[in-house]
Amino acid sequence: EAGVLTYDPGFTSTASCKSAITFIDGEQGVLLYRGYPIQELATQSDYMEVCYLLLYGELPSTEEKAEFVNDIKRHTLLHDQLMHFFRGFTRAAHPMAIMVGVVGALSAFYHEDTDIYDPEQCMLAAYRIIAKMPTIGAYAYRYTIGRPFVYPRNDFSYAENLLYMTFSVPSEEYRPDPVLVKALDRILILHADHEQNASTSTVRLAGSSGANPFACISAGIASLWGPAHGGANEAVLKMLMEIGDKRRIPEYIARAKDKNDPFRLMGFGHRVYKNYDPRAAIMRETCHEVLEALGHEDDPLLELAMALEKIALQDEYFIERKLYPNVDFYTGIVLRAMGFPTRMFTVLFAIGRTVGWVAHWKEMISDPESKIGRPRQLYVGAPQRPFVPMEKRP
Ligand code: SDX
Repeated sequence: EAGVLTYDPGFTSTASCKSAITFIDGEQGVLLYRGYPIQELATQSDYMEVCYLLLYGELPSTEEKAEFVNDIKRHTLLHDQLMHFFRGFTRAAHPMAIMVGVVGALSAFYHEDTDIYDPEQCMLAAYRIIAKMPTIGAYAYRYTIGRPFVYPRNDFSYAENLLYMTFSVPSEEYRPDPVLVKALDRILILHADHEQNASTSTVRLAGSSGANPFACISAGIASLWGPAHGGANEAVLKMLMEIGDKRRIPEYIARAKDKNDPFRLMGFGHRVYKNYDPRAAIMRETCHEVLEALGHEDDPLLELAMALEKIALQDEYFIERKLYPNVDFYTGIVLRAMGFPTRMFTVLFAIGRTVGWVAHWKEMISDPESKIGRPRQLYVGAPQRPFVPMEKRP
């Protein structure tokens, strides 16, 4: 019900922290950024406006948005010395490995003059990270394919620049296809934040020690890379290509249900959603829009994904366990149709999620009650015992 967010009292006792940024109701499949439904933001807003909303808590006025977009544009370039970091990697390096390294290295260029508890410097660090992520992600890819880096253009939007820096060839004019720009902007919105997921919790925990924001975001990128988390979009595509044919779907459904088989249906299930992930529904629509606009509406991978979803959602095992497609199930198909190689999928997830990580980091360090994260454990090791000198050991 609009305006009324009710919590199960038991939930608050297990919550890891308080936050005013994102609300998820896993049973109902509800996702709100600062109270606004993801469906309305994904279809009526744009990524820069959603970044402002997540950082400041309110939708911007026309002037506030223009100033914010301009401020972000002024920080998209990388320090020239940073370029050497890319060249330290092998050409075969995964772009996520490069992104973890280069984002962490930003600490060496900006942290010295950053007093994170000074609100102005805290926002400057936030803007720098949000602005530089597309440049770092695009350069990580271009380095691995041996293509020269191209500078971001201030006459391009955030999503346009990401496509431009990734795909353009210096020797010819490149203007991103408006359909792809709109789809990429929407994908960035859908990935912008998601409450206390593994990577966001990593950023908050790292930040709770007072570590600088660049190092904290680098830790978040590393956590996101896992196939159970942000790496799932890459894993979904590999799974669909391995299944290859609708006739093999029952074989993989059976494997997903077999506890002795480590195979899981990638893009299915969620720690919180026990209903359809609202982002997956929007991604499926976006998939159709992009593939139709590109003339690939009969993409065999989309047909296979939809057939797999249909069969799984009719299977007792998935119904009983409330396993539905999550945000990653359709994302990879769209990104592949847009021309992104599979290895870039999680990089794009990281670019979109950066504003969420930064918003949570900022919320945590500005909370006077925030303390260093120090989870305890249930000890199940050996009881106390005296030391045994070497000569007395068996
Ligand atoms: C993201 O946290 C976030 O918000 C993450 C994220 C974000 O925006 O940050 O939403 C992004 O990470 C989405 C999730 C992407 N990962 C995948 O798609 C990988 C495939 N999914 C799974 O590995 C799994 O669903 C998890 C890791 C996402 C959740 O696993 P859990 O915690 O085990 O899920 P669960 O407790 O709900 O599982 C209940 C049962 C278990 O079986 P039983 O012990 O009850 O017999 O369902 C089984 C699980 O083994 N199960 C699956 C399954 N997911 C759960 N069985 C087969 N295939 C699956 N995909």
